[in-house]
Amino acid sequence: MKVTVCIGSACHVKGAAKIVDELQYLIAQKNCGDKVELAGAFCMGKCQTGVSVTVDDTYHSLKPEDTKTFFEEQVAKKLK
Ligand code: FES
Repeated sequence: MKVTVCIGSACHVKGAAKIVDELQYLIAQKNCGDKVELAGAFCMGKCQTGVSVTVDDTYHSLKPEDTKTFFEEQVAKKLK
């Protein structure tokens, strides 16, 4: 599974770096770094929403405070 966080300037301003930090932490905590690849991307063309994050090819718009829920629902639950 590949989780990509937009680190373009608009998303950076909305807390992309915090989301990356938290995802790194959650991945380490769940010990699933071998199953989840965390990547960065520049502008995904949706700057007017929250921070753009994709899980494989599915788009999500995230606030930093939603990272944990997002991780549980969209990442952890889908791991085998
Ligand atoms: S900077 Fe993230 S979608 Fe544009």
